[in-house]
Amino acid sequence: MNSVVQVVDLNHRYPGGPQSGAGFAVHDVSFEVGEGEFFALLGPSGCGKTTTLRCIAGLERPSSGTIRLNGDPVVEGKRSVPTHRRDIGMVFQDYAVWPHMTVYQNVAFPLTIGRTPRKNVRPMVEEALAMVGLDHLADRAGTQLSGGQQQRLSLARALVRKPAVLLLDEPLSNLDAALRERMRGELRQIQQEVRITTVLVTHDQVEALSMATRIALMKDGEVVQIATPRELYERPANKFAAEFVGSGTFYDATVLELRGDTGLLVETSLGPVSAVSHHRHAVGGAVSMAIRPEDVAVHDRPPDSTDNVFPAKVRNVLYLGGAMDLHLEAGGVLLRAQVPVGGRSYAADDSVYVALDPRRCVVVA
Ligand SMILES: Nc1ncnc2c1ncn2[C@@H]1O[C@H](COP(=O)(O)OP(=O)(O)OP(=O)(O)O)[C@@H](O)[C@H]1O
Ligand SMILES: [Mg+2]
Repeated sequence: MNSVVQVVDLNHRYPGGPQSGAGFAVHDVSFEVGEGEFFALLGPSGCGKTTTLRCIAGLERPSSGTIRLNGDPVVEGKRSVPTHRRDIGMVFQDYAVWPHMTVYQNVAFPLTIGRTPRKNVRPMVEEALAMVGLDHLADRAGTQLSGGQQQRLSLARALVRKPAVLLLDEPLSNLDAALRERMRGELRQIQQEVRITTVLVTHDQVEALSMATRIALMKDGEVVQIATPRELYERPANKFAAEFVGSGTFYDATVLELRGDTGLLVETSLGPVSAVSHHRHAVGGAVSMAIRPEDVAVHDRPPDSTDNVFPAKVRNVLYLGGAMDLHLEAGGVLLRAQVPVGGRSYAADDSVYVALDPRRCVVVA
């Protein structure tokens, strides 16, 4: 992989301030982002995502570690290249649009303070505005734009100098839900068209799963897992990863039997469950078993020749529009199941059977 961003053993400790991970806001964080990749730093509030991004941007000087952009060290030992000399574009949460400037002037600004020859400014601004679909609004005042338009304006401003790397810190979090969803698609599309290497910071798992090519999941200043969205969802490294990404139900479990490479039988409050694991376990070991709502099938009668069938009671029925979210009680645990709308309707206290897909009962340490 031709890595455009390389972060090696990054540590950062703020003077004073509350810190997580062993007194560090960021602790031994390493990752590489390949050319054209859309990489996400995902994790709960305070886990060190922004700090990591600010170190890449040169807005924060890390306590230790190395950062390379396009192979050149921008942070190494005592060396720290200033922000304006790093080949990056940034969009932050409060994508401050300069109110006294027009859309055109907002985008031209980074060029006019840089060393861009004057004759190149107009074509570059026009290209950036066209990229985000704002070319027809060039003469508007920045303040006369909708939230989504302002967001695209700040994206154009970040892209106009054609940086090697685009850094995004919660760029969609100020938008309402519908717009956020639409901008997710637009942002991803623009990123693919420009093929710009991108690092996105977000605490929103749906955002990371839907936009990123790879995700670094962080907790308490440390990286928990680096994986593709699918791997992260299907093969969480531990219970934290399984809980943070997607919604699932967890059962405390004990390993009863190991079956081949990934199969195993675990004892739970439901009874014995056939499951899979991508970790090493010993018989008798205490583990957790996770099952996602979409992997729980609900039946009126126990289906024949299916593993992992257990009785359950409906406790609550939530209509989600496209699907129903059933809250069931099974083995003394609140088990969530997602079932299609338009099938059988359910009501509280209905007795049903659940079939847990054995390939989707994932055991984590
Ligand atoms: N300027 C600062 N001074 C002292 N401590 C700070 C400072 N900025 C952040 N911290 C602390 O460093 C840790 C990491 O903060 P950071 O802003 O990187 O988290 P984050 O993952 O971006 O969280 P969020 O999702 O809430 O934005 C937190 O414990 C935070 O309180
Ligand atoms: Mg942050």
